[in-house]
Amino acid sequence: MGWFGLGKRKRNVASTARQRRGFFFTGGRRYLTEAPYFLPKDDTEVNRLDFQHYMMRYAMQGNYAAPIGSPTSILDVATGTGRWAMEMAAEFPLANTVGVDIVTPPVDEAAVLGHGLDRRPDNYTFIQHNLLHGLPFADKSFQFVHQRLVVAAIPAARWQSVVNELYRVTAPGGWIELVEAIPATGGPAMNQLREWLIAVSSRRGVDTTITPHIGDFLRQAGAQNVTTRDLPLPLGRLGGHLGLMVETDYYSLHRGIRGIIIAQGIATEEAYDGAMNAARLEIARNRYIWPYFLAYGQRLF
Ligand SMILES: C[S@@+](CC[C@H](N)C(=O)[O-])C[C@H]1O[C@@H](n2cnc3c(N)ncnc32)[C@H](O)[C@@H]1O
Repeated sequence: MGWFGLGKRKRNVASTARQRRGFFFTGGRRYLTEAPYFLPKDDTEVNRLDFQHYMMRYAMQGNYAAPIGSPTSILDVATGTGRWAMEMAAEFPLANTVGVDIVTPPVDEAAVLGHGLDRRPDNYTFIQHNLLHGLPFADKSFQFVHQRLVVAAIPAARWQSVVNELYRVTAPGGWIELVEAIPATGGPAMNQLREWLIAVSSRRGVDTTITPHIGDFLRQAGAQNVTTRDLPLPLGRLGGHLGLMVETDYYSLHRGIRGIIIAQGIATEEAYDGAMNAARLEIARNRYIWPYFLAYGQRLF
């Protein structure tokens, strides 16, 4: 099933787009066609995801919050570039660490070709898989299961079944940790960008404002000792070093979805670029927050 429904109004823009092997190219960016996910999948996005990983690690002062002890098996669902999973594999060298994503990250292609700057730890394995098809693992396989910033990939109606699946593959005594965000609010231009993001996501059944409920999904799946934490990240240089990192990620994210929003006729190029420029001024002058949420819970039996 293709998810790239083109708006009639903008067929002239969309007609410049190209489609190849499950990807759609428009506005200079590459997007998935066979999944609801609406963020780009290209080299520029690889850089954003790595940057975002370092931003999250800095914001959380670490890679996880659950009291995981020393797990011997770790799963990272929708692992992106695999940066988190590879760092966990290095931190826990005795842990069999697996990253799953619908797209193989370039680092793994480099490893197959025998070159590349990134060397994967020996205890890290990448598996290409669509999380909406369930997870390709036996029940109770992993002592720590992690899923971060995947809201753009999961239709609202699928959230509970996805978390149930995380719970299924968690070993008794093991932990599941989820980290998500909602689109930031701010001045008029930021709110306009937010509306366009929500519009493109809702066309795929995705609800980007569902994330404050991640703790409820864990409880409903059967997890015990569920702990939830708000992570209000500062957005903008008035928020210091972290605020600057979050601001960089904010622009990068909204630049990333520009092509798909224009191609679908949700906004014109002029309106989108105008809002991006105006958002920069709003962020320079005000203190804003990008709300992130963390939840972890334990499978007891
Ligand atoms: C915003 S990125 C987050 C990556 C990583 N979790 C992190 O925090 O750095 C979301 C990831 O979900 C992946 N993804 C999207 N739809 C997916 C699906 N149906 N199954 C598996 N992975 C998916 C994308 O390829 C992308 O790497």
